[in-house]
Amino acid sequence: MDTIETIIEYYRMQGRAGLLPALQAAQARERWLSREQVTQIAQGLGVPLAEAYGVVKFYSMLYTEPVGRQCIRVCDDVVCGLAGAETVLAELESRLGIRRGETTPDGRCVRSTSGDYTNTRRPKTRGDTRH
Ligand code: FES
Repeated sequence: MDTIETIIEYYRMQGRAGLLPALQAAQARERWLSREQVTQIAQGLGVPLAEAYGVVKFYSMLYTEPVGRQCIRVCDDVVCGLAGAETVLAELESRLGIRRGETTPDGRCVRSTSGDYTNTRRPKTRGDTRH
């Protein structure tokens, strides 16, 4: 497993272009990004901290708090909301016995997100499986 220093060194020459892959690589270590990690990466790549946080907040697959090893994300943006996203989210919460944003004891979670995955007639769901 790469250290933060190794990740920064690998992406340093890419600067801003290396920000997203560096954040993803860092997150792969523990399934989330701490404030210290984001700060180290921003400084190491010469990117303003506000910009690094802008990227972290923009991408729903980047987490700033610990998440489960298997996370189901359901888009609840306008189109998916009209297609029944709330029903899907409610069913997942009911089956897993948790509220969105929470994690089960065995490491599963449900999150609502907004995203433009593609245009279809049902709410988009995505799953992250991490080991
Ligand atoms: S509105 Fe949900 S994926 Fe586009």
